[in-house]
Amino acid sequence: MNYEVRGNIALLTLNSPPVNGLGLPLRQAINEHFDKALADDQVQALVITSAAKLFCGGADISEFGTDKALAEPGLPAVCDRLEASPKLVVAAINGMALGGGCELALACDYRFAHPSVKVGLPEVNLGLLPGAGGTQRLPRLAGAEVAVQMITSGAPINAKKALDAGIVDQLAEAEGDFVEAALAYTQSLLDQNTPVRTCAELSVDTAELPENFFADFRKSIARRTRGFFAPERCIQAVEAAIELPLAEGLKKEQELFQACMSTPQARAQQHLFFAERAATKIPGVDPKTPLRPVNKVAIIGSGTMGGGIAMNFLNAGIDTTILDLSQEALDRGLGVIRKNYEITAKKGKLTEQQVEERMALLNATTEYADIADVDLVIEAVFENMDIKKKVFATLDEVCKPGTILATNTSTLDVDELAASISRPQDVIGLHFFSPANVMRLLEIVRGGKTADDALLTTIKMAQTIKKVPVVAGVCWGFIGNRVLEPYGREAARLLLEGATPAQIDKVLYDFGLAMGLPSMIDLAGIDVGYLTRQGNKEAFYGRDPAYTAICDKLNELERFGQKTGRGFYIYEGRDKKEDPEVMQLAAELAKEHGVTQREISDQEILERTIYMLINEGAQVLEEGIAYRSSDIDTVYCNGYGFPGHRGGPMQYADEIGLDTVLAAINKYRNELGKYGEEWFKPAPLLEKLAAEGKRFKDYAA
Ligand code: 3HC
Repeated sequence: MNYEVRGNIALLTLNSPPVNGLGLPLRQAINEHFDKALADDQVQALVITSAAKLFCGGADISEFGTDKALAEPGLPAVCDRLEASPKLVVAAINGMALGGGCELALACDYRFAHPSVKVGLPEVNLGLLPGAGGTQRLPRLAGAEVAVQMITSGAPINAKKALDAGIVDQLAEAEGDFVEAALAYTQSLLDQNTPVRTCAELSVDTAELPENFFADFRKSIARRTRGFFAPERCIQAVEAAIELPLAEGLKKEQELFQACMSTPQARAQQHLFFAERAATKIPGVDPKTPLRPVNKVAIIGSGTMGGGIAMNFLNAGIDTTILDLSQEALDRGLGVIRKNYEITAKKGKLTEQQVEERMALLNATTEYADIADVDLVIEAVFENMDIKKKVFATLDEVCKPGTILATNTSTLDVDELAASISRPQDVIGLHFFSPANVMRLLEIVRGGKTADDALLTTIKMAQTIKKVPVVAGVCWGFIGNRVLEPYGREAARLLLEGATPAQIDKVLYDFGLAMGLPSMIDLAGIDVGYLTRQGNKEAFYGRDPAYTAICDKLNELERFGQKTGRGFYIYEGRDKKEDPEVMQLAAELAKEHGVTQREISDQEILERTIYMLINEGAQVLEEGIAYRSSDIDTVYCNGYGFPGHRGGPMQYADEIGLDTVLAAINKYRNELGKYGEEWFKPAPLLEKLAAEGKRFKDYAA
């Protein structure tokens, strides 16, 4: 931290890269320099700013759970001291102020900000609530509505909104020396004898708060926050700000903060924060490797997937060409893209001008020669190796040297595809998830020969288009679909054994998943799953055809799911209801395959589906398909609707103990006869780590 006195103002500059995390050293430094400024008679006011692009990223999350987090001075105490300062303190917010960084600013008397900044309290995303006064000071400055919205959503707001809400007192000019402007602003406050301000003297203005505001607010966020512990505590803290004087409100905030901090959810959500960042680091690959440029992109195929993929690039302002075999297909594809943008514009999330700007970046062609000079091609044609090989052979002929050639396959062998052309080093898998313009996950499949710079370029590109990239090795289904397979198998098998689709869905939904497997299959299309199985018959039908019997039968009956109005359920508009015929069908198929039907407990459904998913995760980890267990968690929480409050399947296993998972798998191995023996084989890595009393996160290949 830097300290200097300019005239009669002490300038305290946070300088703790990368994000000015308020760990113990920085908290101590703030306190020391604050004391110095108070003791200096020459100093009449203090300005706190930052030497980094960011003002402050908040508490140091890596300290949580360690002694350092509890060591004095704690962040609440630092903030309380700033607020109680007899000398004027101004926060000069030069860049993003988040979490504890925002709270530090709120504890100052006045806030001066650059117009480009954002301020926010994202603690809820870490399973927490703001614990350094944010829940008490923000409502006093900005009102309960703004505060509860910001605190429960975690979404930052821009400088203009912060000014309008009373969070920021003055904005700087966009151009010019920001620190000089902040000093001049502070001097003007001194010149006007502006008194110090303390939130303790303010109460929350509830005059305009609608009746039943909090009850209605709770209802409005119920779906989005289902299963999460922290959002309700956030609301309670804001209610306390209305009801209690500041000192008591701060105490209540601490109680609620500690209650959140001690939950497995907080550990899970903090795990995911670091997991996402770890996933971009590839062992053995120099992160300083120069990247290839990605200024022009081509997508092969204008279907739903190709169009969705294209939208990501258009949104990022990247020149994009879609290639398809016929003009008719292109017209249809482009029409869908335009329609999607127009729907977004109608919702007020895009202006008409932005729609036109995006469409202007989009080119369409039926000629491969037109995409010869692009930097990246993503093929999104039918999921069939021969068809993909033909596309790649043409790309090999026409594309300039160095073009990254990507396949959007969800299961096929990227190495086989790479080996079929002359430049396997440029081939990579980019597995987008449907709808490709919405889903955050991007599975990047690194072939055996993929060049390091091609790999790092696609990781960077993924971040540019706001995806969460995770790198996987080559195997059937990569990380996501491979690990999903035993989970799906168990769900289908349980149907045969007597569980109903609704029971399975309920168990998984109650666990926190966005939906259970039968609903997921109905949504994705029963025919889609059937086609995937035909592409890998050996894997699906080689060992035991029984578990696919029910899906195959529904496919044969052309009950493809939601799109045909019938699948596991009967759909009428948005409503779905159970279908007794499916249970009847399951009973018949069970008989045919020698499976005895019985009552299945919810516990058995949960363990057989989720634990087998974990078991396959362990296998994938040991084979090196995933570099670390947290990569599997990132895949599941961003692409498969796994609840963030569980932190992903591997984190969940770490939390409940690997011995618990192993014991249950062994139990079913013994109880389920031949089927158990065949399918309930614990992964060797799971057995090893459980025996050593370790967790998946302790494992490094
Ligand atoms: N604590 C510890 N490490 C942090 C951190 C934090 N608050 N914020 C970021 N980092 C680390 C990241 O892990 C990363 O480390 P790595 O290089 O080793 O992977 C590095 O800083 C850079 O982070 P990003 O890659 O995310 O950098 P960006 O520039 O893309 O984003 C950011 C910066 C917007 C600040 C983003 O990092 C972020 O959102 N951070 C978390 C903000 C947050 O949640 N703050 C609340 C903390 S809890 C709190 O304050 C409690 C209080 O109420 C008591």
